[in-house]
Amino acid sequence: MVPAPSPKWLLASDADHLAREAAKIVMESVASAVAARKVATVAVSGGSTPKKLFETLADEYHKSRIAWDRLHIFFVDERGVPPNHADSNYGMAKAALFSKVPLPESNIHRMTGEMLPPAEAAKAYESTLRASFKVDKSIPVFDLILLGLGEDGHTASIFPKMEALEETAKWVMATYVEKLKSNRLTLTFPVLNAARRAIFLVAGKSKAPVLKDILTQGPSRYPAQRVNLTTGELIWMFDQAAASELPPDVRFKALHLVEGKI
Ligand code: 6PG
Repeated sequence: MVPAPSPKWLLASDADHLAREAAKIVMESVASAVAARKVATVAVSGGSTPKKLFETLADEYHKSRIAWDRLHIFFVDERGVPPNHADSNYGMAKAALFSKVPLPESNIHRMTGEMLPPAEAAKAYESTLRASFKVDKSIPVFDLILLGLGEDGHTASIFPKMEALEETAKWVMATYVEKLKSNRLTLTFPVLNAARRAIFLVAGKSKAPVLKDILTQGPSRYPAQRVNLTTGELIWMFDQAAASELPPDVRFKALHLVEGKI
């Protein structure tokens, strides 16, 4: 098995530039997946950073350059709420993207966060993955997974000290986030790490301390550091504000993206 390439670090000037650069990678990932396999499978996270990317993908330039009918959207995680709830990741993605582009409803594979008990909802999503990827035991391989990073180093809905950190068999887990008093559903690391490509989108000064730790300290201090693609390409994309605590030598390892340049 060819080992995964070392993670790429891409530095954008601000959150808007980050979204535009991430949109380029999304378009390229979708186009190459469709060329190779006729469909593209992308799993998206919630939060404000992905929201900006969704809004960018919905603008006229990007909207006209993506084969929406070949794109299948899945969710990395979901809150334990109905789709029309203000906290719903699906609801955010629908408002920012799905409602503005010709993505067939049948291509959107929602996590039923509202289903109880949450463990049943997790099982139901595993069945959705089996049916969509036409697999039984072998792990679904996403073309692209979009991940956010919390200030505590969480990603997806896998937070520090959670048993989901150690999960190696389940593909989807129900978790409970004590500090947020929130039930969650989340893909687990075996699925995240099987992807052909994963992008961490990190923007804003509040993420500077955790990003510095992750890019300069040893591994496995934070949940996000458990994302190590088996053979796929991992890309860390961050803006200047999130990079503001990186030591100069680390900062200059990142490719400084310049607007409009290839
Ligand atoms: C969620 C996300 C979560 C998010 C991070 C970063 O459901 O909240 O999946 O992992 O990506 O918390 O969120 P921001 O982009 O809003 O900082």
